[in-house]
Amino acid sequence: MTKKQAFRLLIFLIPLPVFLSQCLRSSDNHDDPRGQLYAGAATCASCHKDVYKSYLHTAHFVASRPAADNTIQGNFNKGFNEFIFNQHLKVVMEKRDSGFYQTSYANGKAEQSQRFDIVFGAVKGQSYAYWLANELFQLPISYVSNTNSWINSPGYDPKRVAFERAINTRCLDCHLSYAKSAPPQLPGFYDGVEGFEKQSLIFSVDCERCHGPAAQHVKFHTDNPGEKKAKYVVAFNSLSREQKINVCAICHSGATSKMVKPTFGFKPGDPLSNFMEANKTVTQQDYKNIDVHGNQKSLLESSKCFISSQLDCSTCHNAHVNDRDKLTLYAAKCMTCHNSNSHVQCKLTGKLNSSMLINNCISCHMPAFTSKSIVAGQAATLIHTHHIGIYPEETQKILAYLKIKTNK
Ligand code: HEC
Ligand code: HEC
Ligand code: HEC
Ligand code: HEC
Ligand code: HEC
Ligand code: HEC
Ligand code: HEC
Repeated sequence: MTKKQAFRLLIFLIPLPVFLSQCLRSSDNHDDPRGQLYAGAATCASCHKDVYKSYLHTAHFVASRPAADNTIQGNFNKGFNEFIFNQHLKVVMEKRDSGFYQTSYANGKAEQSQRFDIVFGAVKGQSYAYWLANELFQLPISYVSNTNSWINSPGYDPKRVAFERAINTRCLDCHLSYAKSAPPQLPGFYDGVEGFEKQSLIFSVDCERCHGPAAQHVKFHTDNPGEKKAKYVVAFNSLSREQKINVCAICHSGATSKMVKPTFGFKPGDPLSNFMEANKTVTQQDYKNIDVHGNQKSLLESSKCFISSQLDCSTCHNAHVNDRDKLTLYAAKCMTCHNSNSHVQCKLTGKLNSSMLINNCISCHMPAFTSKSIVAGQAATLIHTHHIGIYPEETQKILAYLKIKTNK
């Protein structure tokens, strides 16, 4: 029996008690599933209204959400709702009363159908997960934003429809704020299939993933509304440079590190080594071989710019604001160090006028390269390298482009 056949068989074998136990166990407690130390993002909104409102527009908020009409970006209209593998095989995205589904058809006959339950992402693309008992699996078809099209999920076999890739804790580690493990309810014959308590899931990368548990902070300030100085929450500025970077690196040092334990419990100040043996080495090749699951931490740390200064992720990024594609805003951050008062200005200063310099600063020194995992036809999904450096080929391309433009 192949893996695929075994998986299909398994679906029919889900014992009824599994479903019943799930219906019975929904006596909701209103506490945060992470425990009493955590307050939940909604409670922050009352005192930090502006931060909260702007956070809702960030990639961290959309890192994961329940599947719904307004969170699935792909098109369900007839003619646009299919992914064709070949003349015999396709997957159709279907909207039904009970939700949104992906159904595979072999020679016109419906084979397998699963519901969109969880959505990952909304910037460059989306992937989707469905529940089978208390286990999560990735749906075969994903979505790419720049072409507004459905694709076979990254890394999948182009010749067959695959419903059986398990979504494990590692995936949720970076895209959710919490998921409590539970023994898998299906007879397990796959390595790496895990179970979760459905009600425990906390979607998004939320406030307390970056700031640590804050229930005591909330209680103190609710009881002492006159107190304007923050209590019982880690002040970011009190952290060392490495600790500041680790707040981000817990999720931004690539997806291939060897894990020690799930990262949900990470708090600002914790060393990464409590959670993972992070991949540190990057090679010249890696400067360009980047992807959505790339290692921003190590790439940045390999830059002369980083080594010779005190910059950290928050020098350039405001974690509460969506600054996507505002490349001149980022260039302005570079100019806080590389200005006319500094001994290291761009070598092209004076050769290019200052607006050309600013507008193309990022393209020359942190160029965008093509993603190899998100592929839809000819259109490339681009990702910026965090190895800040000198890229002669990219400079040549940009100078050639500027020349054509200025000659016009
Ligand atoms: C009852 C009001 C209140 C609530 C609710 C509240 N805070 Fe605060 N928070 C404050 C006050 C007051 C300050 C200090 C002034 C400021 O920085 O805005 C503060 C400051 C902070 C700081 C800056 C700390 C520093 O020293 O740099 C962080 C981070 C923070 N809060 C996170 C949170 C998070 C996360 C939540 C939700 C879990 C939350 N707060 C909920 C009142 C509140
Ligand atoms: C809990 C994991 C986690 C932590 C902690 C985290 N990130 Fe992220 N970050 C993500 C994920 C997941 C995405 C992709 C979200 C998506 O689009 O699905 C992301 C996306 C981003 C993006 C892309 C934004 C865009 O609009 O495309 C930036 C920039 C970023 N993070 C910076 C940071 C910085 C800076 C920190 C630290 C202050 C940080 N992140 C901490 C998980 C995390
Ligand atoms: C080590 C942390 C990490 C792990 C593990 C991880 N991701 Fe991500 N993921 C990220 C970050 C960070 C980004 C955004 C990077 C960027 O914008 O270049 C991202 C981007 C994405 C995107 C594109 C989102 C968008 O808005 O463009 C999808 C879809 C995605 N991840 C799905 C998954 C799935 C499914 C898994 C598990 C099989 C997974 N990720 C595992 C951190 C992670
Ligand atoms: C991706 C990580 C991340 C997330 C998510 C995040 N923050 Fe922050 N936050 C930071 C960092 C980093 C700083 C420090 C910025 C600095 O000093 O440069 C900060 C600073 C703050 C401050 C003090 C400075 C200010 O801007 O007022 C408050 C208050 C705060 N955060 C509240 C929140 C709340 C509330 C949420 C959720 C709605 C939230 N944060 C989500 C990373 C994050
Ligand atoms: C916190 C200050 C700071 C910021 C912000 C900063 N840099 Fe730098 N950068 C430096 C320092 C210091 C050096 C080392 C200069 C020297 O050679 O002594 C450097 C070096 C460089 C180099 C030379 C690299 C090499 O390999 O020779 C480039 C290119 C550069 N930075 C570009 C940028 C760009 C582009 C940005 C914005 C995206 C930026 N820097 C932001 C401080 C900074
Ligand atoms: C010197 C400035 C600078 C620093 C420092 C920096 N970034 Fe970035 N980052 C950028 C720029 C510029 C972009 C491209 C922004 C865009 O296209 O919207 C970017 C994009 C990203 C993205 C999205 C990838 C993409 O190209 O779509 C992620 C994720 C990210 N940064 C994470 C981090 C993390 C984590 C750190 C710290 C380890 C960090 N950055 C430090 C300048 C910086
Ligand atoms: C058209 C491409 C291009 C643009 C735009 C550009 N640079 Fe450069 N930059 C270069 C090249 C190429 C070099 C190396 C030239 C050489 O060594 O002869 C360089 C060198 C540098 C250096 C190293 C100087 C040294 O003495 O070692 C710094 C720092 C730098 N650039 C910063 C910036 C910043 C900051 C911006 C934007 C505000 C910027 N550059 C815009 C292409 C560019």
